[in-house]
Amino acid sequence: MEAVGFIPSSQHLVQTNKTVTWASPSNIALVKYWGKYDPQIPANPSISFTLNHCNTKTSVTLVDQSMLSDKSTGAFSFEFSFEGAPKPDFHPKIASFFARVFDYLPFLKTYHLVINSENTFPHSSGIASSASAMAALSLCLLELSDEFPPNDQNVFSEAFYAKASFLARLGSGSAARSISGPLMQWGKTPGFKASQDLVAVPFNKVLAPIFKNFQDTILLVDKGEKVVSSTVGHGLMKDHPFAKARFQQAHDQLALLTEALVSGDMETFISVVESEALTLHAMMLTSSPYFILMKPGTLSIIEKIWNFRKNTALPVCFTLDAGANVHLLYPEMHKVQVLQFIENELVAYCQNGQYICDQVGSGSISHTVQP
Ligand code: PMV
Repeated sequence: MEAVGFIPSSQHLVQTNKTVTWASPSNIALVKYWGKYDPQIPANPSISFTLNHCNTKTSVTLVDQSMLSDKSTGAFSFEFSFEGAPKPDFHPKIASFFARVFDYLPFLKTYHLVINSENTFPHSSGIASSASAMAALSLCLLELSDEFPPNDQNVFSEAFYAKASFLARLGSGSAARSISGPLMQWGKTPGFKASQDLVAVPFNKVLAPIFKNFQDTILLVDKGEKVVSSTVGHGLMKDHPFAKARFQQAHDQLALLTEALVSGDMETFISVVESEALTLHAMMLTSSPYFILMKPGTLSIIEKIWNFRKNTALPVCFTLDAGANVHLLYPEMHKVQVLQFIENELVAYCQNGQYICDQVGSGSISHTVQP
C-alpha cells in the first residue's frame, strides 16, 4: 500500500467532547532498526518483541474550537499533561508528529485536543518511551476519527491497527511495532511477503513454545539522558562507511532469526540477538562523529551473562537499545535461576540496584469507556 492510501476518502462523523484511552507497550528489537530515509522509512528491516508491563497510557479528549475561550484562533491546538502535570518540553515532538499526520487525520484541523499521558515504568529510567507514547497517541487519534469504528463486540479491525501503525511510525519509527504483538516485523524484506516499510505487521508464523511468555528483565545501568539522540544516530547512518554491509546484514540476520523463532533453535536465536545488539553499538562507535552509549556497567553485565551461560548452559542472552541499559532475555521456565543470578551478580551494576521485570505481551489495549 502507498502512503496516499491512508488518506481517508471522506470525512467521518466525529464526536466532540468524546474521550478515548489506549495503553500501548514498549518493545525491544531483536533485529535493530538503525538508519532511515524521509518520511521515517527504515533503511533495513527489524523485528521486536512487544513488552507487557512497560506501558504508556494516554487519553485524548476532542474539544470543538468554538467551546474554547476567545483566545481560540479556530485552528488546531493541543494541551499535553504527563502524569498530571503540564509538560511543555514534550510539545515540539508532539507538534511535529501532528504536522506529519494531519493529511491522514484531516478532522483534527478544526479541533483542540486535551492529551493526558502516564507511564507504568519509572519516569527517567532510561527506557525509551517514545515507542509506547506515539503508539498510544496514534490509537487514540484514530479511534476519535471514527474512520474504522469497532464492531459490536468492541473489536477493532486489521485496517484500524494497520493505519495506527502507519501513524505511530510517523511519530517514532519503532512505535510502528508497539501497536500489536507478540512479535512485530517492520521493513520490507524478501523472505517475508507481508513485510512493509510503511507499517509494522505481526510475525505471521507459529512461534516455538519456548518463546511463550519469554522474559525481558531490564537492568537499569544508567537512567540519565542519552548523550546522542536516536534521531541523530539514525542520521549518521547516511554517510556511514559500513552502512551498505550493515543494511544487508539486517536482512540476513532477520532470515536466520525467523527460522530460529519457529524451530526454537536457541543457539541461533542467541547468536543473532547478541550480534544485533553489538552491531548497533558498533555502528555508533564507527560513525562520524563517533559516540558511545554503553557504560562500564553495560560491559561488565555482558561478561557476567556470558560466564553464567557458559557455566549453567541456560539459554540466557542480552540485547541493548540505543542506551546503556541491558535487556536480559530468557525463557520463562528459567525465571527463578535467572532472577537469583541477577540478584547475586548483576544488581551491583544497576543504578540504585534497579531493574524491571517484563515479558512478551500481546499489544495495545483500548481503555475507552463506552457510553
Ligand atoms: O524509533 P526510534 O527512532 O527511537 O529508533 C529506535 C532505534 C532502536 O531502538 C535503537 C532500535 C529499534 O529497532 O528499536
